[in-house]
Amino acid sequence: MENNQVNKKRVFSAIQPSGMLTLGNYLGALKNWTAIQNDDRFDCLYAVADLHAITVRQEPAKLREQIRSTFALLIAIGLDPDRSPIFLQSHVPYHAQLAWLLNCYTQFGELSRMTQFKDKSAKHADNINAGLFTYPTLMAADILLYQSDLVPIGQDQKQHLELARNIAERFNALYSPTFVVPDPYIPKIGARVMSLQDPCKKMSKSDENVNAWVAILDKPEDIMRKFKRAVTDSEARVVYGDGKDGINNLMSIYSAVTGMTMEQIAAEFDGKGYGDFKTAVGEAVVEQLRPVRERYESIIKEKDYLEQLYKQGAETANRIAAKTFFKAMKKIGYVLP
Ligand code: TYM
Repeated sequence: MENNQVNKKRVFSAIQPSGMLTLGNYLGALKNWTAIQNDDRFDCLYAVADLHAITVRQEPAKLREQIRSTFALLIAIGLDPDRSPIFLQSHVPYHAQLAWLLNCYTQFGELSRMTQFKDKSAKHADNINAGLFTYPTLMAADILLYQSDLVPIGQDQKQHLELARNIAERFNALYSPTFVVPDPYIPKIGARVMSLQDPCKKMSKSDENVNAWVAILDKPEDIMRKFKRAVTDSEARVVYGDGKDGINNLMSIYSAVTGMTMEQIAAEFDGKGYGDFKTAVGEAVVEQLRPVRERYESIIKEKDYLEQLYKQGAETANRIAAKTFFKAMKKIGYVLP
C-alpha cells in the first residue's frame, strides 16, 4: 500500500461528515468507492473530510458524532480498511499544510468562479469565511498528497477536480513534475441524483423538505413513502425524455441500482402506471441499502474497533502524505526539517 505498486493506479476520495448521507452520495460516489476497491488494478485510500466541514458552523458534540458515524458508514458500505486505508482528514496534518502551499499557487479569480462557493455563500450570507473560499485548494491538497490517479466523485465535484488538475499542472510546470495530475471518475448513471420533490434541484441533505431526499440509513418504510410521493408529470409513461425530470431521475436511480438500461426499464413498465414504477424503485433502493443499514447498526456500537481503524488509517496516510509534502517543500526552496 505504501508505494503505488507497479501499474496499480492510486485512487483517493473523501466525503464530508455533514449529517445524514444521502442516496445521492451513495449512487454518485460511495457505491463506486467499493466497486473500485474490489478491482485489483487500483490501490485506494478514502477519508472523512472533517476539515472541510467547518466551512459552515458546526456544533462540537454533533460534529464529533457525525465524524464517527460517517467513518462507520464507510465500513458499512463494504470498504475494507485492510485493503483501503480509511482515515480522518484532520488526523493527517499535511492536508492543511499542503493546502497553505497550494493557496499560493491558486488564483483569486479561479476560486471566485467555483459554483459551489457562489451557492454556499448565497446560502450562508452571514458567514462567508475565508475557508469557504479556499475550500477547493484544500480539496486539491487532499488529492495531490496521495499522488492520486483517479478520484471517484459525483458531478457536483467536477469543477473542484478540474481546479486540482490546474494547480498540479501549474506547480509541475513551475518547478518540475511533483504531483500526479488526477482524473475524475464520474459514473455514467447516478452522478447527479435529483431531489424527489423538485427534480430540477440536486438531492441534498440540507433540503428542508425531508421527502426530497433519501438518507442511506433511512428505514424501509420512510424510503417507500418518499418514493411514493416523488414528483413526476402527468404523462404517465415510464420513458426517459425531455421535460420529464421527475421520471428521468427515478429511472436513473432505478438504473443505477439494478444495472438495467433505460430501454429495459421502459419495457418492464410498458403499460403500467407511475404508481407501480415508484413502488418498484422504492423497493429496489430499500434492498440495496438494507445490508448497509444493518451493518452500520452493529458497527457503530464498536467504538474501540472504529478507533483502531481510523488510527491505523491515519498512520498509513501520514506516511504517504509526508513524502509528497516534503517533495513539494523542497521544490519550492524550503530548508527541510
Ligand atoms: P460531499 O461530502 O458533498 O459529497 C460526497 C460525494 O457525494 C457526491 N454527491 C452526489 N452524487 C450524486 N448525486 C448527488 N445528489 C450527490 N450529492 C453528493 C459528491 O459529488 C461527492 O463525490 N468536497 C467534497 C469532499 C472532498 C473530496 C476531497 C472529494 C473533500 N476532499 C477530495 C474528492 C477528493 C464534498 O464536499 O463532497
